[in-house]
Parts: sequence; C-alpha cells; structure tokens
Amino acid sequence: MTDKHTHRLSADDWDEVNFPRCAESDFDRVLETTLTRRGFLSGVLAFGSAAAVMGPGLLSASAARAEELASVSRFPFKPIDIQTDGTVHVPEGYQWKVLTRWGDPLFTDADGYDITDGGSPELSDRIFGENTDGMETFVYQGHQLLVVNHEYTNNDINLPAAQEGTPASADDVLKLQNLQGISVIEITEGDNGWQIVKDSPYNRRITHNSPMRIAGPAAGHDLLKTAADPSGTQSLGTMNNCGSGRTPWGTYLTCEENFNGYFGSTDAEKAPASELVGAGYSRYGIGADGWGYDYHKWDERFDTAKTPNEPHRVGWVVEIDPNNPESTPVKHTGLGRFKHENAEVVVAHDGRIVVYMGDDERGEFIYRFVSNGTYAPGASTEGLLDDGILYAAKFNDDQTGQWVALTPESTGMEQAELLIFARQAASAVGATTMDRPEWISANPHAIEVYCCLTNNKNRGVQPNAGGDDTSVNGPNPRETNHYGQIVRWRPHNDDHASETFDWDLYVMAGNPELYNNQYGGSENITAGNLFNSPDGMAFDSNGLLWIQTDGDDSNEEDFAGMGNNQMLVGDPATGEIARFLTGPKGSEVTGLAWSADRRTMFVGIQHPGGEFPDAGSLPRSSIITVKRDDNGLVG
Ligand code: FEO
Ligand code: CA
Ligand code: CA
Ligand code: CA
Repeated sequence: MTDKHTHRLSADDWDEVNFPRCAESDFDRVLETTLTRRGFLSGVLAFGSAAAVMGPGLLSASAARAEELASVSRFPFKPIDIQTDGTVHVPEGYQWKVLTRWGDPLFTDADGYDITDGGSPELSDRIFGENTDGMETFVYQGHQLLVVNHEYTNNDINLPAAQEGTPASADDVLKLQNLQGISVIEITEGDNGWQIVKDSPYNRRITHNSPMRIAGPAAGHDLLKTAADPSGTQSLGTMNNCGSGRTPWGTYLTCEENFNGYFGSTDAEKAPASELVGAGYSRYGIGADGWGYDYHKWDERFDTAKTPNEPHRVGWVVEIDPNNPESTPVKHTGLGRFKHENAEVVVAHDGRIVVYMGDDERGEFIYRFVSNGTYAPGASTEGLLDDGILYAAKFNDDQTGQWVALTPESTGMEQAELLIFARQAASAVGATTMDRPEWISANPHAIEVYCCLTNNKNRGVQPNAGGDDTSVNGPNPRETNHYGQIVRWRPHNDDHASETFDWDLYVMAGNPELYNNQYGGSENITAGNLFNSPDGMAFDSNGLLWIQTDGDDSNEEDFAGMGNNQMLVGDPATGEIARFLTGPKGSEVTGLAWSADRRTMFVGIQHPGGEFPDAGSLPRSSIITVKRDDNGLVG
C-alpha cells in the first residue's frame, strides 16, 4: 500500500492508487473529435468546445487575446502571479486571515486539546475537525452559522504515536471518526476579525458515529438492514464529506464521496450475499484492506465480513438543519448512491426541485434529480429530495444532450436497487463517462450549469470500474487528460426540468507554453492564468464563477508555470479567467462561502504542507477569511 500519509495524496487520488482498476486498453479511437461548431457565446468569442473543434494551432493563447480580455475585465482586482511558497497570497487591496484550523476548540471544555500529541479521543468531537472541504453560511435569528465538511484525516498527524499513522486501538479509531464529518459553528466579526463563538448553542459536531435517519425510496430495503438496525432506516455517521449544497428552505447538504475507503474485511474470502452486491463492491471500490483507516479491525460496523450492508448506508447526500442542533441528519436515498461531490439545488419554473450532482471517479457520471412535488416558501418540504426521478446525463458529440431517467424499465433494476447501485443503473442506460465530475454550480443570472471535470489519466486508456468504454468523447476530448476542463450546459426551453440541453466547454485547462494542440488549453487560457485540475466552484451573487483547484502543484514539466493550487475567477459571459488567490504548497483550495454582508469570503485550505498556518506547528487544514482593505464587497 502506498503511504498516503507521507505523500499527502488528495483523497480523490487515493482510490486509484490502492484499487487500480482493470488495465484493458482501448486506443481504438483517435484523439481528434469531430464536433460541429456550435458555441454558446455568439456575438462575443467562442471558447471551449469551439476551441476543441478548431484544431491544433488555434488553441493556444495569444498576447493580443490576453490584452483584449484585460481591457473588458469585470474583475475589480489585479490578478496575481503563481506562487510556490508555504503561505496564502491575495491581490493588492485584499487581506487574508485565519478564521479557524484543525484542533481549535468549539467549546471551552476542549480548550486544552493538544494537537502536538494528537489530542484526546474524548475531546476530539469538541474541536474543529481536519481537512476542511465544502461549506455554506446561514443566518438564523441574527446568528451567522458556518457549516463545514471535514473530508478525511491525515492519520500520521492525528495519531503521531502510531506507526505510520495506522490506528493501534479502538481509541485511535474513535479519534479519527470524531475528527471527520461536519462542524456547525456560529461565527461573529469583531475588531480582530472573524471568530468562532465558543459554546454557542448552535455549535455542533456531526461525526462518523452520529445518528442519521435514512429516508426515501430505498429506506428500509433489505440491502440497508444490519443486525444493529433491522429497520434499515437508522444509520450511524456521515463520512468522507466532500462538497456541499444548500436547499431553498435553509438546510445544509453534505455529500459522501470516497466512503469505500473506511471499510475492510477480516475475512477476505467471504463471498458477497448476491451477484449484485458483489458487483456493487467492485464498482464502488470496497475491498478487504480499506485505505489505512483500519476501522474494520476495531469496529465491526466497518468490517464487511460481519456487517456486509453497512457500505450501502453511505454514499448518499445528507441533509442537516443547522438551525436546530437537536435535529437528526437525513440521508436522502432518492438522490442516488455514488461518490458524491456536491449537490447544486435549483428550483425549476414550475416549482419542482432539481439537484445536479457529480460522481467523482474516473469515467463515472453526472446525475440530476427532479422532484415530483413542488417547493413553496413556508410549505412542507417533506419528500422534495426523495420523491422524484433520478437521471444520468448523456452528452452527444453534436453538443446536445439528454437526461436519461433511471427507472426499473430503463435499467432492469428494482427502484431501491437502482438508487443503491446508481452507477450500475447509469451504465445500463449508456450515460456518458466523464473525466471525474467534481463541483457543479448553476449561474444565478442565467439558466445554465457548470461542472468541473478535474482530470482523468485513464481517458482513452482503460474503461471505468464498470467496464464502460472511456474513449474520448465530446465534453471529454483529450486522452490521458491531466489538466481538466469545465463543461456547461443550457437546459432547453430555459427550464432546469427539461429533458434535453445544449452543452459546450467553458474552459479547457492546459499549458500553451508547452503545447500547440488540445493540451495547450482553450483560448481563454493565457500565460497569466495557468492552472490544472479545476475542482471546487461557486457563483457569487454577481454571477462571477469562482474556480478552485486540486491538482499537481509541482510547478514542473507539464505543470510548469502553474504553481501552487489556487482560486481563480471566471466571467461566464466573456470567458475571461483571472487568478485571485494562491494556497500554500501542498494544499488544495476547497470550499467557498460568503458572509451575509458579502464583505467577507471564507475559503478552505485543505491538507497544507509545511507549517501552515502557524510557524513551528504541524500543518493544519484551515478556513481563512478574505476581505478588501476598504471593507468593500467581495462577491
Ligand atoms: Fe473530495 Fe472529488 O473531491
Ligand atoms: Ca480534497
Ligand atoms: Ca473536490
Ligand atoms: Ca479533486
């Protein structure tokens, strides 16, 4: 097993390293695609798919083009250069500050939590957890609440006494379980900037052991039942909480991504209960060893030899009411089970709820849920995230696409099965294999949706984990794609509930200094904004698109000139993209939210290296605030 803890792999890369999929090759399609040119940006300049079909030579950026973009910029800052150091940089006229970091107490009884020895298991659910990811802000009765995911743990940091971070006791496991999940914190801004309101009644940690309710069409199904919960409706814990979402009714959505890594087996020879379950284990990467958390050796719930259905109880989108600390989080099976990145919720014209979701693994799919019922402010929201239809996206090479309903008729699977094994269901209808769908974000000022396709070294090289063909296709036009792209679609009839759409590529990342072909990127990639592996993404209230990266920060070879991971901002109308922030070496920039007055931006710094943010200390995943010097609006 590769040592994750030494190399600080992003959680997304861990699966591939530890569970290499079949290595069949399919070089049977060439790199060239034959798209027709139908960009969205008529009247301005066509980027993306237009660039993809313009062929080599026209893709790389020109100085004139960069100048033109700068002259029409909507961005109120001077873009910054790449950085390779161990701290955060923002443009002139802006400042940043740490709001909170892993180990900070949320309650005064945890004031003594000592990160140098990894802290005590008893207090590990009273502090800010590790590896911050998706987050959202809420205002409730005048209180500003920040809800934050803690995606995974770097075990060598949290268990400094353990050999290579491998848990050596049930207490070690409990500590890891407590350091992940979610933090709900009340925050307030004073003379010294933003701070956590310690002991606020809203402060709450939700961990790998917190009680959850399972709702929706798969709730109570045999595949969700365990000895501890024969009802199949009451589970414990939400895990690998990656991206976030929010509902129009003021609740938080947390998305369970690489949940498979927590499970292992003390009896690797034990046969799965059925062919479907075995296929599911294989498709979702559930193996005998897990990812080094070793929960299964100390906690039977994670031992698939003893609790084979437990993995079916994670991989969902979970709804949390931050305003009610006593509320039980709800797992919505209607939204399907896969490696959820985030959940972007919009309301269609007729009031139906539409949820866009990506499944972040090489060659997996983009999904959409459309509710049967409609939303009205103040009315009951019961069932809105469960009673409806789950769809998978099919992108055609002619820049049109369809949402294909996953139903018993279309998939040959029972309703509960097609939700629990959504990947197999989407394969059955021939959904389009994507280059690792990360965050999805809907433009608040237009009926259009963007999705980061972060990278996919297997594109055109080997099929996905279900054996689906992953030859290059329209929105995934590059073999061994290590730069990534952002696809966007416009629902037909300007209706998010419409079954068809048009699509193009907003940007293809690349390195025009090195390549004069598709790997040079689309025309809106310039020497001044090089990046790779777009991942986090959010629109601000002005309709600008903030893009965060989780890529190769070696600044060498193919990635020369890209520096540390970063946050850029894009103008959907012009295609212009500018670098706003750079993270410390080794970190991923992920998670973005704004204060109620839009004068503060909250940005997550995950798995930093070095001594960020405190000299002489262990590196600590942190949330920072970014403000203008003049306290002006930042989004
Ligand atoms: Fe946790 Fe796909 O990012
Ligand atoms: Ca990550
Ligand atoms: Ca991510
Ligand atoms: Ca990522």
